[in-house]
Amino acid sequence: MEPLRPAYHFTPPAAWMNDPNGMVYYNGEYHLFYQYHPNDTVWGPMHWGHAISTDLVNWQHLPIALAPDELGVIFSGSAVIDWQNTADLGPEAMVALYTYHNAHAAQSQALAYSLDNGRSFTKYTRNPIIPSPPNMRDFRDPKAIWYGDGSGNGHWVMVLAAGNAVLFYTSLNLIDWQPSGSFGFGHGAATGVWETPDLFELPVAGSTETRWVLTVGVGDHAPAGGSGMQYFIGHFDGQTFTNENPKALVLWADYGADFYAAQSWSDVGLRGSPNGRRLWLAWMNNWQYANQIPTTTWRGAMSLPRELRLVQTEDGIRLAQTAVPELMQLRQTEQSWQHIKVMPGQPFVPEIESETVEIIVEIETPPEANGLGIRLRMGNGTATAVGYAPQSHTLFVDRSRAGQSGFSERFARNHTATFEPASGVLKLHIFVDRASVEVFANDGRISFTEQIFPDEANVGLELFAEGTAVTVHNLQIYQLGPARFFSPPG
Ligand code: FRU
Repeated sequence: MEPLRPAYHFTPPAAWMNDPNGMVYYNGEYHLFYQYHPNDTVWGPMHWGHAISTDLVNWQHLPIALAPDELGVIFSGSAVIDWQNTADLGPEAMVALYTYHNAHAAQSQALAYSLDNGRSFTKYTRNPIIPSPPNMRDFRDPKAIWYGDGSGNGHWVMVLAAGNAVLFYTSLNLIDWQPSGSFGFGHGAATGVWETPDLFELPVAGSTETRWVLTVGVGDHAPAGGSGMQYFIGHFDGQTFTNENPKALVLWADYGADFYAAQSWSDVGLRGSPNGRRLWLAWMNNWQYANQIPTTTWRGAMSLPRELRLVQTEDGIRLAQTAVPELMQLRQTEQSWQHIKVMPGQPFVPEIESETVEIIVEIETPPEANGLGIRLRMGNGTATAVGYAPQSHTLFVDRSRAGQSGFSERFARNHTATFEPASGVLKLHIFVDRASVEVFANDGRISFTEQIFPDEANVGLELFAEGTAVTVHNLQIYQLGPARFFSPPG
């Protein structure tokens, strides 16, 4: 038995996994490649593992897509469909761009392509396509996008991470790339090396405007400690990015400890146009303890897939994310309550017998309350608390007593984000799996993604209020069934 194996989050069948890679939608299939070390449950020589899904919920595992060769091991990267055959590799080639990391720790960019729906890849004969620049140690994780319209007018753009900056390149054929700009150098958080960038355009909700979003992984000192995802909002002219916010403003995509190296799917909807949904997911882990988490035959899980939006807030335009609606197919039983009054010292305790639940709750946040929210995966003196502290204006996910934590002294912590719920009503949408909790507050304005390692017997749940009574307008709890994960054919 594998009691910590998630029921509906993606995990490799065995061995080590980190970043999502090569995310592309083609022919009705969402491809998910990932950093994979097939021979051990700790990080090592990197391959690209591979899985596909038609619905973002149930996954089919496929054989390893890319393995190390004499140029190096295979680090993170992206994939696109070459609809116009600009690279002359064949009709509708799936083109993967990735980083080689060689024995001297030098990094270069390379290409591989598939003409059979991603089932097999051929490495380009003249790799690397962008050699390692002198004196640049960190030069990796190429994300390629098509900049232009759907009728073939435009060019390819690559963004990759280099130190505390990203570099932009452009190309007409995905093979020959010219530098076109850079961004970073004092913008945002530079508390760790930048990694795994992404770049996309989104409409701003409630307006006719769009903005470009540049996301980057920051290797250390993110809000919950260790690695985390920051983002910038601004403009992209096909060559380079400009930040519309002050240099010093730092925006985080998630306030939990376990949301890193997020990547969005290319080519969703109308050949990747802004009309398609912008969907992403992240490695649900943190470099602080990723190699020590207490799973057995595998290590590493992906977050739930989420849909991204830009929303106008009092502070400016911000990213919001919600779990994809496809997940509703996992709902089994539903229980719901209206107008509950929760008193201090008298929690409201619904009867729940499942490790895996989805919770939707709307709760008042009176200023006199010291704290309010939900405790979940409770039992034997352990619990994970999710809630709001009106006096400090903070949302929190407290996993300091969530279960196993002895593998790292930095795991058992309370994580917070400053937030003022509109009209004093906190809306939480929570997904609990066997070893994680994901929290989306007020339509995904703030999210927390956290691993927890509770005992499988601890399935208690309660709503609590401290300092004063609070009114719960609405509570819905769904028990969630498992997603299906199919082994490779043959
Ligand atoms: C991010 C990262 C990437 C790199 C990969 C190696 O987690 O460090 O920058 O390509 O992991 O596995």
